[in-house]
Amino acid sequence: MAKDIIADHARWPRLEDEIFKVNKECKEAIKAKGRDKVIDSTLGTLIDDDGNLIAFDSVYDTLKDMDKKSIAGYGAIEGNEAYLDLLIDNCFGSYKPDAYIKAVATAGGTGAIRHSIWTFLNQGDYVICPNWYWPAYHTMCEEFDREFKTYEFLDEDFNFNLEEFTNTLDFALEKRDRVLCVFNTPANNPTGFSINDAMWDRILDVIRKRAVSGKFICILLDVAYIEFAGDGSQKKFFQKFSSLPENIITTIAYSMSKSYTAYGIRAGACIIISSNEDIANRAFDSMKHSNRSIWSNITHAGMNILVDIESDEKKKKSYEDELIANRRLIEKRASAFVESAKEVGLIHLPYFGGFFISIPCENPKEVAEKLKEKDMYIVANKNGLRFAVCAVSEEKCKISPKLIKEAIDKVNK
Ligand SMILES: Cc1ncc(COP(=O)(O)O)c(C=O)c1O
Repeated sequence: MAKDIIADHARWPRLEDEIFKVNKECKEAIKAKGRDKVIDSTLGTLIDDDGNLIAFDSVYDTLKDMDKKSIAGYGAIEGNEAYLDLLIDNCFGSYKPDAYIKAVATAGGTGAIRHSIWTFLNQGDYVICPNWYWPAYHTMCEEFDREFKTYEFLDEDFNFNLEEFTNTLDFALEKRDRVLCVFNTPANNPTGFSINDAMWDRILDVIRKRAVSGKFICILLDVAYIEFAGDGSQKKFFQKFSSLPENIITTIAYSMSKSYTAYGIRAGACIIISSNEDIANRAFDSMKHSNRSIWSNITHAGMNILVDIESDEKKKKSYEDELIANRRLIEKRASAFVESAKEVGLIHLPYFGGFFISIPCENPKEVAEKLKEKDMYIVANKNGLRFAVCAVSEEKCKISPKLIKEAIDKVNK
């Protein structure tokens, strides 16, 4: 007899979101002491120097001018054609792979990650992922009954740890016939690390060698932060996903959340890359089926924003100007942090772009607690601290490394 009204596969403890928890405490501290006194390194959204969420004018003026009927009406289940075409061009820039490319609209990048895990893995197959990762990957594996296995992200010289990746890939393929390798690059969350083009050649070499008959490998590129990772050349690596063997499929989790400051709009896409047209089409069919079963279709306004901006030279120019200005803002903040870290001898993982810099340390939770005494609120994960350059002013970025170093030394003395 059943013992619980919640079905076996759906029984989970309450999800405590650590990030929102520290953010709440931080807000209380700001209320009590004033914004100037507090360093808020909690949320992963772009925040200006006065503590306000940045929402691009180019994006929200476009939304204000939108015909209400095109906001209210349903979009196509797979996503509107103009949206998907423009999104593909926008994602790849000048570096579109030579392959069959299809895309399905998803609720943010999250939806694309979900679709990739669902479409290319059976229950019990492995998602393999570096050990500095966005926790939702793990949550999704739990939800869909896929295994989640991490490996040491960087080697002693702070390069991508090819050996650990290879061992983990071998482990997964020894156990099962399918594997999904997730790479959150460029500008990884939580580290800001990007895998360089030469390393990509080596990674793809390893994957190609393992793609023997009967084995299926999905490479998932989560590029949520790509527009904050350089001026265009960071997209060069996409070309390497041309002409891969048919049993390797690449998917890209494309997100409008960061690049259009549209976190709450929930628009994105799963871009499918295959050297076989039939496989690309069948992956598309599978994901369209998933769309129908989960959210039917995504926010029409989100799709319209991208189409309106990307198909109008003037709007596109305003959008790009805003994007560049904000990328510079983050770059300046990150440089201030990195320079000060060097001065005080604080070790952090290599930062190449994006919203965060990570500081490896022992007892990160205790260190984060200690930092609250200095009015710094920061997210602790398993391996260290996540400093949010997207949210902290340049001035505060300058003073933060010293505070972090002192707290680490005190806790781990
Ligand atoms: C690494 C990473 N991937 C994907 C996402 C998904 O973003 P969204 O679903 O809002 O597009 C996020 C959001 O924080 C992220 O940090």
